[in-house]
Amino acid sequence: MVPWNGDLFRTRFFDALSLLLPSGEAFVIDAISDALQADGGQGVSAPALRDEALRFVREEATHQRAHRRYNERLAQAGVPVSKLQGRVAAAVQDLAGLPLPTRLALAEAFEQLTALLSAQVLQGTAWLQGDGREARMWRWHCEEEVGHRHVASDVARAFGVGYARRVACLALATLYLGIDLSRLMTGLLWRDMVDGHVRPLGLLGQATRFAWRTAPGVGRMAIASLAGLLPRRLA
Ligand SMILES: [Fe+2]
Ligand SMILES: [Fe+2]
Repeated sequence: MVPWNGDLFRTRFFDALSLLLPSGEAFVIDAISDALQADGGQGVSAPALRDEALRFVREEATHQRAHRRYNERLAQAGVPVSKLQGRVAAAVQDLAGLPLPTRLALAEAFEQLTALLSAQVLQGTAWLQGDGREARMWRWHCEEEVGHRHVASDVARAFGVGYARRVACLALATLYLGIDLSRLMTGLLWRDMVDGHVRPLGLLGQATRFAWRTAPGVGRMAIASLAGLLPRRLA
């Protein structure tokens, strides 16, 4: 296989994200849509916020379609997409039964983390390289994530979701994303090694370079994430 993003490790990072996204975006879309429908005069029906929320849902649905096409291309290249996505879908299904305020707090947290990562991806070439079809799609998605980063938060606030729940959900969402992303990357890269696309030492070198180049961005994300926990920011 030919890595589209400079090397295999960095390519698989984005492939793993793409496998996560359709289910994750479905969860966020459902939470925001349910908040709009469930609103009983709690502020979500304010016309400006409602318009923003509807635009948000449309954008996320477009991202889902783009990532389904991306994932179809992965499947054509031999990646066991259905199997990998089945596990993600099952994890998201577990969250779908939670009360709406918790789902909204989780949606806000996922959006916050996505926007922080997107902002870093759009800076320089540490994360994303080239100008091919896949790289262009990721830049477009990242730009829209940064553009609508405030919407889930505004909806959660208008719905009256409390501070403690939002902090707890930010921690939970970070854990979910970290575990799922690591698990998917391990699955993809293990298969690449078994198929002879990369040798263990070569992969170690790629992983080290990626970690080194993205470390400043990860640091900025951690600081921004912690700053977002301050009561004045989440209140
Ligand atoms: Fe999205
Ligand atoms: Fe988003």
